[in-house]
Amino acid sequence: MSCSVVLGSQWGDEGKGKIVDMYAPDADIVMRCQGGHNAGHTVFANGTSYILHLVPSGIIHKNVINLAGNGVVVDPAALLNEMEVLEKKGIDFKDRFFISDRAHIIFPYHSAADKLKEKQAGSAKLGTTGLGIGPAYTDKANRTGLRMGELLNRDLIKNCVTDNLAQYNILAKYLYNSETIEAEPIIDEYYEYGKKLAPYIADTASIVNKALKDGKKVLLEGAQGAMLDIDFGTYPFVTSSNGSTGGAASGSGVSPKWFSNIIGVAKAYCTRVGSGPFPTELDGELGERLRIAGKEFGATTGRPRRCGFIDLVALKYAVMINGITHIALTKLDVLSGFDEIKACTSYLADGAAAEGFPANAADLAKAVPVYKSFKGWSASLSELGRLEDFPKEARVYIAFIEEFLEVGFSVISVGSDRNASIVLSGIFE
Ligand code: GDP
Ligand code: IMO
Ligand code: MG
Repeated sequence: MSCSVVLGSQWGDEGKGKIVDMYAPDADIVMRCQGGHNAGHTVFANGTSYILHLVPSGIIHKNVINLAGNGVVVDPAALLNEMEVLEKKGIDFKDRFFISDRAHIIFPYHSAADKLKEKQAGSAKLGTTGLGIGPAYTDKANRTGLRMGELLNRDLIKNCVTDNLAQYNILAKYLYNSETIEAEPIIDEYYEYGKKLAPYIADTASIVNKALKDGKKVLLEGAQGAMLDIDFGTYPFVTSSNGSTGGAASGSGVSPKWFSNIIGVAKAYCTRVGSGPFPTELDGELGERLRIAGKEFGATTGRPRRCGFIDLVALKYAVMINGITHIALTKLDVLSGFDEIKACTSYLADGAAAEGFPANAADLAKAVPVYKSFKGWSASLSELGRLEDFPKEARVYIAFIEEFLEVGFSVISVGSDRNASIVLSGIFE
């Protein structure tokens, strides 16, 4: 089979960008399937750092075609800005980047609604990126959105923006006591975006399926992670799309019949940005140490990420719902220097062992993690090219993870650089 999937298996920011970039030379096409510019995928290659938000993480490799599928939501201004930043770093988009004509558009009233809703929620806020992701997917599901293919038609933009703003402005004025938004400037602005983006808008499902039929290799790139998936994550503290394997299929138009390997990217510990339950979170000095050692600050918003030990209960759930065939374990190097490392192997609910992974965020918030403790190691892992050279303690730790999850590793990543990886299997093997 010639289509493999790389997705997040925790709360996002697992290092998907690095893993996709690393495997991209084996692929003809890299395709993003869901999410929007809430994603921040970092690639560090040849001494240059690239932060990709909507552009797929295969873009740095000249021979790879990059597609953003129907499942993504696009803020055209943010996309044009991202392309400009990348062009300045020598990336060429012509004839090798296409965005689906069916992808939904984020308008300024989406980001405004996102921010107002969060503000109104006060301490109960979700901690969204404020970029309009949720409201744009709401319009998609509500059948009131506009798609990229329609951005080329001024009348369609006008009808959509006028209708949606009529509703938004009532909410802004009477519910949120906030400024209303004028339609006309948005219509003009978005029509201009449409003209600029026209060469990149295409039927990406047909492109990718033709490529597969012709024997080409495709890597589908997820955004966010299993615990932020709208169905399987820690609802309502989730994003508004399916970052799991199902979302890779529906967000690309690639049938699961093509899928071979499904690589779940997981940090050797855990992080989360935004609100919501996080059973293994470390509030104190240890959490701060992890944040500093792992440089855990959001690639999109710069917010400090909440840090904690690896949660194998949540990760095993992610393995199940995604059908993960391999784990790409990242940031193992960050754990060097910790005297003791822990892994959560079960939860206690009201003093008794909890069954499975709770569906309810309130139950998860009450879950008490049960840990297995591991002796730490002091040696740096970043320069080591072989697993056999790792300190025994590091090998014991990762062997336990593998055994617990009943899934092998495809790569162990020990640094942000493209080459700081121990690759155990190819992506299409
Ligand atoms: P993504 O959203 O899943 O692509 O992850 P982000 O790019 O948001 O966050 C991962 C961060 O960890 C980035 O700054 C990467 O450069 C960095 N990173 C990835 N893998 C490793 C690794 O193995 N070790 C270290 N130290 N950093 C890594
Ligand atoms: P990548 O692809 C980490 C989080 C936000 C918030 C919740 C909802 O880089 O892993 P949204 O703006 O999507 O409505 O916010 O989801 N979130 C992410 N956290 N990494 C991401 O993407 C995220 N995208 C959204 O912090 O808690
Ligand atoms: Mg990220």
